[in-house]
Amino acid sequence: SPIQPPDLTQCQKADVPGGSSPKCCLPSDPVKATDFQIDASLPMRVRMASHLLDAAYITKYNRAYELMRALPDDDPRSFSQQASVHCAFCQSAYLQKNSNEKLQIHFSWLFYPWHRWYLYFHERILAKMLNDDTFALPFWNWDNQAIFSPLPNVIPAVFIENPALVDNTRAPSHQPPTLVDLTYSGKPGGLDPEQQRAENNNLMHQELVSGAKTPSLFFGQAYRAGDANAPGPGSVERAPHTAVHLWTGGDMGNFGTAGRDPIFYSHHANVDRLWNVWKSLGGRRKDITDPDWLNAEFVFYDENATLIKVKVGDAVSTEKLRYTYQNVPNPWITHIS
Ligand code: C2O
Repeated sequence: SPIQPPDLTQCQKADVPGGSSPKCCLPSDPVKATDFQIDASLPMRVRMASHLLDAAYITKYNRAYELMRALPDDDPRSFSQQASVHCAFCQSAYLQKNSNEKLQIHFSWLFYPWHRWYLYFHERILAKMLNDDTFALPFWNWDNQAIFSPLPNVIPAVFIENPALVDNTRAPSHQPPTLVDLTYSGKPGGLDPEQQRAENNNLMHQELVSGAKTPSLFFGQAYRAGDANAPGPGSVERAPHTAVHLWTGGDMGNFGTAGRDPIFYSHHANVDRLWNVWKSLGGRRKDITDPDWLNAEFVFYDENATLIKVKVGDAVSTEKLRYTYQNVPNPWITHIS
């Protein structure tokens, strides 16, 4: 049977490795969640590449985080609580319902849909801060190895030049113009830019095209009610996703603190975009049809601080959720090394 949302009143207070130990517990009142309803009246929002934003959009984007950061810490929409959501579900702050197994949404087939929902509500809260239903989260287009300025595959300037979008803990040696290393695991690769681009393209081709021909290769292993957590990640989760966390460094380098860096949400918007790109590649690259995946449920606080219960099956179409992605080149699709 499918994974159920945890009881938020039963928080285990997970510790974050590395000293700082934020309480990952989420507000547990009200404990009864409302079922998600698709709001078909929402305008179609377009998530744009973060290196291509215009000045007006950047001002709005920074303002949204400024307002989110200004909310009181106990508001589930506040920036610190938004970061706690990630900490809670990756540091096992909760047990699975009716089970002694710790709930963890990484390293399994829940990785993709859970993060899609997390970003969905995060984006709706930012839109509410701005009173602008057209607001959409930009995506960090790190897989795009274009050579023209502004470069997509460095830390985009928007996250360096706008105070509410900055996190001072990022790795000092990975500031622009250093290119992102999509195979990074802690050691500098020592490649020149041309080699780095080729290696990044190879990795993307492998994790989305040649090495992700089936749903389970792409999404990761089945994770059902009562199962031990972390049965195994899918290709994108394991490789470029984790490499970008570690390479960015600081808060981003640890799942317990990653949500404290605004670039996190833009990193995950790109991961989310790649789900759509993968499905467009054809063959057996389709969503999972197992009811234990489609009926798995999560809870999130929405833009009105109401606790909402969602299903994986309601997240398989971004169009139904009323958002889409700006078209950008995906040169790694046809890349042959
Ligand atoms: Cu929930 Cu990028 O990890």
